[in-house]
Amino acid sequence: MEKIIVAIDGYAGTGKSTQAKSLAKHFGCVYVDTGAMYRAVTYFGQLQTTDGSIDIKLLIDSLPQISIYFEHTKNGQQTFLNGENITDLIRQSKVNNKVSDVASVPEIRSFLVDIQRKMGSSKGVVMDGRDIGTIVFPEADYKFFLIASPKIRAQRRYEEQQKAGITETLEEVLTNITARDHQDSTRTFTPLKKAKDAIEIDVSYMSIDDVFNVLIESIVKL
Ligand code: DC
Repeated sequence: MEKIIVAIDGYAGTGKSTQAKSLAKHFGCVYVDTGAMYRAVTYFGQLQTTDGSIDIKLLIDSLPQISIYFEHTKNGQQTFLNGENITDLIRQSKVNNKVSDVASVPEIRSFLVDIQRKMGSSKGVVMDGRDIGTIVFPEADYKFFLIASPKIRAQRRYEEQQKAGITETLEEVLTNITARDHQDSTRTFTPLKKAKDAIEIDVSYMSIDDVFNVLIESIVKL
């Protein structure tokens, strides 16, 4: 196993996690889905209120009670929150619609960034998110930034959700993706942006295998 750090950032629905998983397997590294961590905190916040809204102050005060970890099972990597498997629960539209609000809170970001740095401290890691190459691991060995048109990203997310039995329409998925893009890239604290030294790849018309090959070739060349 190599001790390398690969950061894959970019917009929702560009296939970051698919690529990050394959790269982690290829290099025998740990894979960390940081979006799932923001989703887990959002889900926790929604459990604290009766109407599914988020009380940000209460959530910030409760951060020490939150434990998030990943486990490999025969169904792939699963996300756990305080011992509960929340892998499917955090993909629901209820969480989709609030996660960018939660991800814009500096205290929550600092809490998760600390955990993410620890997760990458001992072994090689492939981490995907929005701020991995800029904030979490600015010294990452390899940095990629994936982009694609909003319509193509919405179509991909829609197909994924259909397979998972989630019944949002394509229009709803597109509206949510566009709103999250806007919120994630305009938030004041550590917004989504490409690291200066990241390699940008427009995946709009590329297959999953094509993107993987470009990533591997770039890593070999660097
Ligand atoms: O990748 P995703 O769609 O699961 O991410 C969920 C949300 O979390 C997304 O709207 C942006 C936010 N996020 C973030 O701000 N920073 C990260 N490192 C990962 C995700």
